[in-house]
Amino acid sequence: DGRRVLEQIEQQFRLSQDDLTRITSKFLEDFELGLSEYNHPMAMIPTFVTGVPDGTEIGTFLALDLGGTNLRVCEVELLGNKEFVLRQQKYKVSEQLKTGEASVLFDYLADSVDAFLTDFASAVPSSPTNEQVNPFGSPPLSEEPAVPLGLTFSFPVEQTALNRGRILTWTKGFSAKNAVGNDVVQLLQDAFNRKHLHVRCVALVNDTVGALLSRAYTSGGCILGSIFGTGTNGAYVERVDNIKKLGESEARQKGGFMVINTEWGAFNNTRSVLPSTPYDNKLDRQSINPRLQAFEKCISGMYLGEITRNILLSLVDAAPKPLLFNGRSSDVLDTHYGLDTAVMSEVEEAWESGRVPAVSGKDAEHAQILPNGSTAEVPDWQAVKVVDVEQLSEEDVARLERIRGIVIQRLSLDPENVSLRDAAIVRWASSLVANRAAKLSGCAVAAVLVQTGRAKLGGGFATDEEKIGVGVDGSLIQFYPNFQARLRDSLRDLVGEEVEKKVDIGLAKDGSGVGAALCALQATKQGH
Ligand code: BG6
Ligand code: GLC
Repeated sequence: DGRRVLEQIEQQFRLSQDDLTRITSKFLEDFELGLSEYNHPMAMIPTFVTGVPDGTEIGTFLALDLGGTNLRVCEVELLGNKEFVLRQQKYKVSEQLKTGEASVLFDYLADSVDAFLTDFASAVPSSPTNEQVNPFGSPPLSEEPAVPLGLTFSFPVEQTALNRGRILTWTKGFSAKNAVGNDVVQLLQDAFNRKHLHVRCVALVNDTVGALLSRAYTSGGCILGSIFGTGTNGAYVERVDNIKKLGESEARQKGGFMVINTEWGAFNNTRSVLPSTPYDNKLDRQSINPRLQAFEKCISGMYLGEITRNILLSLVDAAPKPLLFNGRSSDVLDTHYGLDTAVMSEVEEAWESGRVPAVSGKDAEHAQILPNGSTAEVPDWQAVKVVDVEQLSEEDVARLERIRGIVIQRLSLDPENVSLRDAAIVRWASSLVANRAAKLSGCAVAAVLVQTGRAKLGGGFATDEEKIGVGVDGSLIQFYPNFQARLRDSLRDLVGEEVEKKVDIGLAKDGSGVGAALCALQATKQGH
């Protein structure tokens, strides 16, 4: 019957402690592999960022940020007391730009910088007066030195220097032609030059590296920067000794530390340890990059809505009898990527807010429908089961009414076809998908802690550091209800409470802008 179908789905999304441990171990193997050789999906990219800031850095830089929800141009002034002033403007990147000719995309980036300089920037070019932070290495193009710009480019790029790197592949729905294989700094600089813009791209960072650097700048220490947004990825501080693929290069011989951009979104593309339900498989098949970015496709904001949409559609189409929305769909629900992850977020928010333990019996009509978990002790998001409940409080009904409203409106459904039971099912499906995502995210963080010697898989070991700084950014971790708490639960199960308690997860506010500025500063110091 219907309930069995739901239980089967739930079963497919469940991850046991053993599963999580196996996934984390595999993560560590892939870290090792990626650090030893080039051309692995989890690319473990050396970033040539060899130190993290401590908050005393000073300078004013432009930053350009491509790859998250918005394109941004910022002017960042690092004040040197862990504080900064940032002015920014957001621009949209159309589907056409994402998938057309790369030169057109990069022209648009240059135009956006131009518009920003004309309309918004105040201090730039205010090249730092302090010689130490402004030793422009090469002769200026004109009397005024060019405005130094740091580029945050949130895609896999094989870097060969702070300001050089070849695009390895696109991710997150981008597929612009004639970009892969080229140097992204050159592509941007060429566009600036075509427009006669007196701007010089001096540094290139991934958004995770930006998050790491900016969190270090504002909090005084950080070992991992990670993004849980449209995509997911992490960058951490590794001992150069361990980066075997650098061979006997100068960078390797110098020793010390270097930030590694893991590109963990591409973890386990073969799915030997990652889950693959029919809902994941359908998403993957219909994506523009089948069999790539497997981990990202289980986790990030671009995809969670789509997995949920696939579940809901399977219930609409269930035979012999539909299990959702009277068997009716809508244009939104029928559209590829039509269910935005933000809808799941709203639905879960409505369920979470005003939640009270079930107290009084209510309406038999609702009796078989509710997600369990209306108890005070167990957070709802842990109790995602759809089971019979005898007791249904008025508050529960009110919350489901709210969810029903959201579902009708955001999925453009005919109200006639949306019952409270349907609302409960949408909440349940969202929770299943998000819960799995957060648990898997915990594996990635745990793997970094183990890799850097701060934890042991299974617990039983605590670093003597007081605090382990982790900088995060992205719409999912910022806005999805309980995402961070769920991630932490999984982390605790993997590395033990002692270590987990020391992990200080903090928002890398304006991470990309500040991170790019910090990198531009490091580059100008090195004379790029
Ligand atoms: C933004 C950063 O704050 O977060 C971007 O400026 C980053 O660099 C982004 O890519 C990630 O979040 P989302 O949700 O926009 O993908
Ligand atoms: C994708 C990109 C990666 C980026 C992440 C978060 O995984 O490949 O470079 O850091 O999204 O934006």
